[in-house]
Amino acid sequence: MRWENAFWMVACLLFASLPRGQLDTTCHAFVGETVILPCTITSPGELDVSDSKLYWQIESILVHFFHNGEDSLRYQDENYRGRTSLFLDEVKHGNFSLQLSNIRLEDAAVYTCIYKQARALSNKTQKSKIKLDVSGTISYHEKIFLLKKKKIGRRGSV
Ligand SMILES: *[C@@H]1O[C@H](CO)[C@@H](O)[C@H](O)[C@H]1NC(C)=O
Ligand SMILES: *[C@@H]1O[C@H](CO)[C@@H](O)[C@H](O)[C@H]1NC(C)=O
Repeated sequence: MRWENAFWMVACLLFASLPRGQLDTTCHAFVGETVILPCTITSPGELDVSDSKLYWQIESILVHFFHNGEDSLRYQDENYRGRTSLFLDEVKHGNFSLQLSNIRLEDAAVYTCIYKQARALSNKTQKSKIKLDVSGTISYHEKIFLLKKKKIGRRGSV
């Protein structure tokens, strides 16, 4: 193997193991749909969720909170009430994906999934960020109108 190849292999490995926290995924949904925001950690064996905390947040807005093995939604932001759920059977396998139903335009945001294991030796915290884009559903007539407007706009700018 040439040394340049070895160098790039090491660089990629380093990159792949960087701590998460930067934007991990972008999802797209239409108004009214249900979307699954992905968040998973890799963990050897089953997680002990009885002493862990899982937050889904938009900055300081609490979208969903799971604590001591169950949902804890008392301080959930009211805009998300009744629209969020985790896959409870999957959580112990490190799958913290959040299902968000009845998508609204205002749901477009960067969501942070934060997992904290309290009793773990190192106060393990893992984070990932998921961006959600939302498009409105538009009617056939609105579509035609927008297309026409675009054409006129182009012509006008020539
Ligand atoms: C996590 O669980 C959801 C719901 O069952 C599933 O759609 C998704 O593929 C799972 N993600 C992974 C990485 O297994
Ligand atoms: C874990 O965090 C708590 C509070 O931040 C701290 O008191 C404790 O010493 C930490 N434990 C370890 C093992 O780092």
